Amino acid sequence: MNPTVKAFLDKDSETFSYAVYDHDGGHAAVIDPVLDYDHAAGRTYTASAEEIVAFVREKDLTVDWVLETHAHADHLSAAPFIREQLGGRIAIGEHIRQVQDIFRKVFNLEKEFLPNGADFDYLFREGDTFRIGELDGRVLHTPGHTPADLSYLIGDAVFVGDTLFMPDAGTARCDFPGGDAATLYRSIGKLLALPDNTRMFVCHDYPDDRRDHAFETTVGAQREHNIHVGAGATQADFVAMRTKRDATLGMPRLILPSIQVNIRAGRMPPPESDGRSYLKIPLNAL
Ligand SMILES: [Fe+2]
Repeated sequence: MNPTVKAFLDKDSETFSYAVYDHDGGHAAVIDPVLDYDHAAGRTYTASAEEIVAFVREKDLTVDWVLETHAHADHLSAAPFIREQLGGRIAIGEHIRQVQDIFRKVFNLEKEFLPNGADFDYLFREGDTFRIGELDGRVLHTPGHTPADLSYLIGDAVFVGDTLFMPDAGTARCDFPGGDAATLYRSIGKLLALPDNTRMFVCHDYPDDRRDHAFETTVGAQREHNIHVGAGATQADFVAMRTKRDATLGMPRLILPSIQVNIRAGRMPPPESDGRSYLKIPLNAL
């Protein structure tokens, strides 16, 4: 059985979140939900996630899973809000432990913070299978952008996080701590080995004025037309292109707030003595 897919665009971070479900009144997964965050004010709010909640309620869906493709560096995760409102288990790749270990050092996190993935309800491994009502899901470990990236194949639809973008936009950067361009190339090879007509859903799109935001393509379109890996680009070509290009990219605007929240599965840091949580800005660390 193939899923029905509803996309939600967070305009601020140009992130696509998804509700993936078997049928009205059936079961769903929510993928990569966004918590709105006004960095200047240090204020979080849930307008984007509430759109997903309203949709899920309107369709009368039971949420089985809240799936993260990776620890995002450009937006805070609304996974805890989605779970509180709708239920479901928050899952990510098992290699999140490695990402937690890298960033607990960057942020000098409290000694109680252990890089064991325990903030998440479930850690997936390569090849794991899971169910969403009548839908079958399979996990592909697709590292390179980060060590922990997963792609989720659900029926004929694959949700690729930050590996491939739309064909005219190429691929994700590989210069964050733990990222690696050759590794991403091999991960993309795994995705491009899926059947040509597999529907592919991306996590971001950053279009210029020539077109609107887009989120859906196919494996076949990527294999032929992706500007970074299409038409048989070699690993050496890809690594050279990616390395050169990444050297020109600044850090994402919200990387520091995002990572320290997202490696805790969207949980805020433990409150201080006044009952409030604080985010850290490590100076000259990235
Ligand atoms: Fe990312």
